[in-house]
Amino acid sequence: MTNLISNIELPHSISLLEKMAAASIEKGPFTYVQSGSGAENTLRANVNAFEDWHIVPKVLNDVSIRDTSTQVLGTKFPSSFGLAPVGVQSIFHADGELASARAAAHYGVPFIASTLTSYSLEEIATALGKSPRWFQLYWSNDIEITLSMVRRAEVAGYSAIVITLDTTILGNRERDLNNSYSPLKLGKGSANYINDPVFQSRLGDSSSNDQAVIKKIVDVMFAPALTWDDLRTIKNHTSLPILLKGILHEEDARKALHYGADGIIVSNHGGRQLDGCISSLEALPPIAEAIQGNIPILLDSGIRRGPDVIKAKALGATAVLLGRPFVYGLAVAGEQGVRHVLNHLINDIDISLALTGLSLMEQVNYSVIRKK
Ligand code: FNR
Repeated sequence: MTNLISNIELPHSISLLEKMAAASIEKGPFTYVQSGSGAENTLRANVNAFEDWHIVPKVLNDVSIRDTSTQVLGTKFPSSFGLAPVGVQSIFHADGELASARAAAHYGVPFIASTLTSYSLEEIATALGKSPRWFQLYWSNDIEITLSMVRRAEVAGYSAIVITLDTTILGNRERDLNNSYSPLKLGKGSANYINDPVFQSRLGDSSSNDQAVIKKIVDVMFAPALTWDDLRTIKNHTSLPILLKGILHEEDARKALHYGADGIIVSNHGGRQLDGCISSLEALPPIAEAIQGNIPILLDSGIRRGPDVIKAKALGATAVLLGRPFVYGLAVAGEQGVRHVLNHLINDIDISLALTGLSLMEQVNYSVIRKK
């Protein structure tokens, strides 16, 4: 089955779309999105983990009218998924985040803007219009830059801050290293920094020197010395809800509660950080047990189809996030390509809910799945 969009035949399967993306863009950026770190064991495990669980459908429930939506911290997720933060999107298509933001807005799917966007937070907010948006923060080792970005996000209407914690340093991405590829080129991954007044003030006279700008971004981007106590700083400076992304250990889930996080995102960064680490789905049940429904739990890494969303929900996720699949759509056909991916997943989630024998996503619970 194919769908005609912008005169391009787009397939209804992410693996076929991935092949089209490989043929549409250069090897460097394609490998950057597709690959994981190390031997890519975690990258594979993320997808395979969904096969360890089976849905056990129920019958003769009226499923003629369905609602796949869920609410997370005041944000409506119409199909229980949102777009994961993905940086430097202009390496995949010239319109970058503007294209994916417009596609998300078309369906009201929440959009999470990365710290490392190719377009600024403000430009992305304009592309989104009134559609829901959160901001993903890479906590800079320069606290004034961190707080400046949070302030800008507040002003531009982002309604939650997602702090990514699994990227104290970059994972060992062998295939990118073999390609000598790094996406952090001026204008292709740095607009958000370039537009930041505090970052600009740090550059001083070297602001017109491309190499100096890149070096400065690399210097300030991550904060490997960060600890749990630092979370207090951000809570003191914003009233927006804070979600912690990259939680895999149930002890950290308990700490997230203790330190006042408003939500957590179970994620291993799509297998791009520590290879050999646990898949997100396998990590979820003990985390759900630790959280006891006190705060929402999101999950990403490996979501490809509707049944995956049902399984994640049944194991305790409130909602999920989608990474690579929408980027493949972006690479193939810009905004139309992302729309195609979203439309396909929205339908698949609806079909999966109906065939599980339920009419509300909120009814999905542990009783409809079984471990293999
Ligand atoms: C990412 N991810 C990511 N995460 C984050 O917090 N900030 C970022 O800037 C990025 N950038 C990024 C770029 C690319 C090309 C990819 C593929 C991923 C991780 C992302 O938010 C998410 O955790 C994973 O992509 C989810 O896994 P799947 O859906 O790709 O399997």
